[in-house]
Parts: sequence; structure tokens; C-alpha cells
Amino acid sequence: MSTLVILGAQWGDEGKGKITDYLAETAEVVVRFQGGNNAGHTVEVGDKQYKLHLIPSGVINSNKLNIIGNGVVLDPKAFFDEVEYLRNFGLDVNEKNLLVSDRANVIMPYHKTLDLLKEKARGKNDIGTTGKGIGPAYTDKVERCGIRVCDLLHPESFRAKLMQNMEEKNRYIVQVLGGEPLDGEAIYAEYLAYGERLRPYVKDTSVVIYEQIKNKKKVLFEGAQGMLLDIDYGTYPFVTSSNTTAGGVASGSGIGPNMIEKAIGVTKAYTTRVGKGPFPTELENEVGDWIREKGFEYGTTTGRSRRCGWLDLVIVKTAMRVSGLTSLVLTKIDTLAGLEKIKVCVGYKLNGEVIDYVPASLEDLALCEPLYEEFDGWDDSVQEATSYEEMHPNARTYIERIEELVGIKVSIISVGPKRSQTFKKD
Ligand code: GTP
Repeated sequence: MSTLVILGAQWGDEGKGKITDYLAETAEVVVRFQGGNNAGHTVEVGDKQYKLHLIPSGVINSNKLNIIGNGVVLDPKAFFDEVEYLRNFGLDVNEKNLLVSDRANVIMPYHKTLDLLKEKARGKNDIGTTGKGIGPAYTDKVERCGIRVCDLLHPESFRAKLMQNMEEKNRYIVQVLGGEPLDGEAIYAEYLAYGERLRPYVKDTSVVIYEQIKNKKKVLFEGAQGMLLDIDYGTYPFVTSSNTTAGGVASGSGIGPNMIEKAIGVTKAYTTRVGKGPFPTELENEVGDWIREKGFEYGTTTGRSRRCGWLDLVIVKTAMRVSGLTSLVLTKIDTLAGLEKIKVCVGYKLNGEVIDYVPASLEDLALCEPLYEEFDGWDDSVQEATSYEEMHPNARTYIERIEELVGIKVSIISVGPKRSQTFKKD
């Protein structure tokens, strides 16, 4: 058995796309198991830059099987747009190398309308959603009125389910949110057509993944977002609507948890966060601005600027515990190059007590005072390193202390956006 899970160990945007692409070179199957087209993976290969939102990053490597699992919510238009986008790069994307779970829930037009109108109605208490209908699609899944990919392939039952939804959604959109009603017939025709286009890609992907694992294929599970955006263990309510931690792999791809062999957590050498909510190590000063500019910390999907702060190992440790991480990947060491002193948060002080976990209540998290260790910085030569030994000694001290504090090894280091700027540590 050879299965590997790649997860974000912070608030997302850790560089998982690049690392998945790097590790996908040796994988045979790449699976997305949660989220939707709200992920924003950027992968640079040679002089090309690919931006992926929904399709697994393995698609950039030829000869991989890419699977969109049942835990994903699928926007068919976004799916076909992304297929087209990738084909325009000359990549071969077809039903032989890309499969979609028949159990995945579909993002319908009313989900997007509800997402936007509800967010608007929340006013200054908005969650900061991407407006792509992901949250409302997951809401319907849990409410058991979702439309699944398999439904699009059955015209009559699809019509019945859709029309029941349309009545309820339109009432809510018009009467509660003051929006315009949507045309059920037009949606039916459009989504039935998507169903026909999707048909060749649709499979019971749990069966496919099981067979692949049984046949000793290397399967890589690609997480989107990050630990603190997990619906259960994240900074609720400023989270995404799915389980971004390792538990989501089993339920979101239809395999047993005992089939997960390794789980690696990707973490930046510092911390970023998009949107609202407490952020203990945030640097609301010129150092934070400097990191944002040097690291180009702006969202791939939304263009929103990210809040920046020192590396918070309380968060990384929480990810290690909740997901059973077996090693870490450290990215963007190059971004910190040039700073004289670099800090790392090793614990929080909360109500006079030192803790090393993220508290559930945001009120408590806001009161957490970070406890820091300070390190000497390194210079830009770090970008040229092709092995751990070639790294600046101060960067190595930093990395080894991270290993000590989190209690697991750093297995891969990234010193720039390119595939070539990545190496294994041990
Ligand atoms: P989400 O799933 O949306 O959280 O995305 P992600 O984790 O894949 O991260 P994203 O691609 O949004 O952000 C990472 C950005 O950093 C991309 O532009 C990468 O090309 C870039 N990047 C990745 N690793 C490194 C690195 O080591 N150094 C530098 N300078 N840039 C990097």
C-alpha cells in the first residue's frame, strides 16, 4: 500500500499545489476529496504557470489518473472551463485521466445566488466566502436535498428533485433576501446538458480508488484550504464547509482510514490568513507588509490581500495532532530571507496559563498571547539551494527547531515557486 495525503497545516495558501505537483511525479493517482472550485492552487512548471481550482494538480503531469471524489462539491461549468483552460496549455485531459464521483454534490445556480445574497445580508458580520456557492451546496448535502452528479444522469428524478428545490429556494431568495427568482426550467435544461457532458467522466470513484490501492498504485490525496479552515477544528465560523483535515480523506473519497499510510502537512515559514477572525501572531506593521509584498500574499482565486504574521507552531502542532501528520513540508523559506531576526510562536498564554493547542472559542483565541523564540535570519542565497546542506546555517537551525517543537520531521523544503526549487531533507 502506498497512499499519501497532502494537507494544509495553517489557514490555507501554504503552497500545496506546488507540493502536490512535485510529489505527483511519483504518484499514479491524484484525488481531491473536499472543497470545490474555491481552492486556488498555483503550480509553476518551467516557464508555465497553471492556476487550478477544482481539478487535481496531477493533471499537469501526464499519465496520472485524477479523481474528483464524493466529498467535493462540483460546479459543472467551472469543471468544463478548467478542462478547457488546461487543454489550451496543450495538456491531454479526458475521461481516461479524469474521473468524477457519481456521489459528489452539484453546485447549482441557486447556491451561488444564496451565497452572494446571504453574505450581503450579513453586512459587517460576513464570513468572507468566495461567493461560488460552496457553503450552500454543502448545506443542502447535509439537509439531504442536494443534487448529486448521479442525479444529472436521470432526467425524471432530477426534474422532480430540482423543482422541489426551486420552489423552496425561490421563496427564500425573493421573500427573505429580496432577490430575483431563478428560472427552474432553464436550470433544468442547462444542467441536464451538463450531465450528458459529464457522463463519460462519472464513476463510482470509491471503487476505482480501492482497486488502485489494492493494485499497489501510488495514490495521493490532495487537500485544499488548511487545518484552521476545517469545519470542525478550524476557527469557526470563519472556516470552509468541509473537513480539510485527514478525517475528510476517508469520508470524502470512500476509503477506510486504515488505508492512509502517510499524511504530510504543508506549512509556510510564516503564517497568513485571509478574511476575518483572531490571528495571534499577526504583524500589523511594516514587517507584515514586507512579508506580504515579498511573498506576494494575494489570493489566487479572489485576489484578496492576505494578513501576514510569524510562524505559529501552536497551529502546526494542532494540525499534526488532528490529522496525524507524519511529516511537514516547509515552503517559502525564501520569502523570509533578508530579515535580520525571525520569530516563531511556540505557545500561547491564555488567562495566565501556557497552552499549545488552538482553543475552540474565538473569544479565547483573541486573548491568546503568543510566546516567541527568536532566530537569526538568512539571505537570498537560500533560493539557490538545491539540498539541505546547501542552505544557510541559520535557516537550518530554524528548520531543526521547528522539527523539535512540533515533534515530527520536515521531509521537503521549498525555497521558491518553481518545481526545481524543491528538495527532500532526509
Ligand atoms: P489553497 O489550496 O487555496 O490553500 O492553495 P495552495 O496551498 O496551493 O497555495 P497557493 O497556490 O494559493 O499559494 C502558494 C503560492 O506560493 C503560489 O503562487 C506558489 O507558486 C508560491 N509558492 C509555493 N512555494 C513557494 C516557495 O517556496 N517560495 C515562494 N516564493 N513561492 C512559493
